[in-house]
Amino acid sequence: MLDNKPPVLTIDGPGGAGKGTISRLAAGKLGWHYLDSGALYRLLGLSATEHGTSVDDETGLCELALSLQIRFGAGQDESVYLDEREVSHLIRTEQAGTMASKVAAWPGVRAALLDRQRRFRQMPGLVADGRDMGTVVFSDAARKIFLTASAEERAERRYKQLIAKGIDVKIGDLLADIQTRDERDSQRAVAPLKPADDAVVVDTTAVSYTHLTLPT
Ligand code: DC
Repeated sequence: MLDNKPPVLTIDGPGGAGKGTISRLAAGKLGWHYLDSGALYRLLGLSATEHGTSVDDETGLCELALSLQIRFGAGQDESVYLDEREVSHLIRTEQAGTMASKVAAWPGVRAALLDRQRRFRQMPGLVADGRDMGTVVFSDAARKIFLTASAEERAERRYKQLIAKGIDVKIGDLLADIQTRDERDSQRAVAPLKPADDAVVVDTTAVSYTHLTLPT
């Protein structure tokens, strides 16, 4: 039987490995849609904070997840909206990342966000960025990449980004945050961070993005 589903390229990996940059580039080149699944968990974390819902309240988080009103900017526009309010910067902080990682550990929350993610699969195709895109959400994707880099290298890249923005941080704190988040994301019972069996693993520890070229 012919499979008429739109094609998907999954790009999974730990935080700070450059998935977002590469996924956006790939989606732009291919003219495909782009799903930043981490943003969904970040938006849920933000919404939970604003509603006073505890990260320990799985039922409350599931209800919030099902009712989230979110919107993404089109194409290269990286804006993200919660209830039509622009929250792009609010969800990109280290605290928002930690909050996202905590809410994402609940099986019910992941189930509540599953259909929403799958609806991004539209013609002509989708580049899906996250932790479980290749293992769970789009396990039938034809192309799967697992993009990684050492925690030290990811901390250093993040440090340079933040310092360039005039944000004062300690590299040791960033490294500790990254290691804690990696551990939580990889140790959780449901959809843990790991390469799909059929994924190509790309370690960018020693690679500068300026040297990465995508096939035309
Ligand atoms: O990719 P990111 O840093 O924006 O993701 C933030 C957190 O969301 C991450 O630490 C774990 C969670 N997440 C997830 O559990 N599954 C995904 N597919 C994407 C993100």
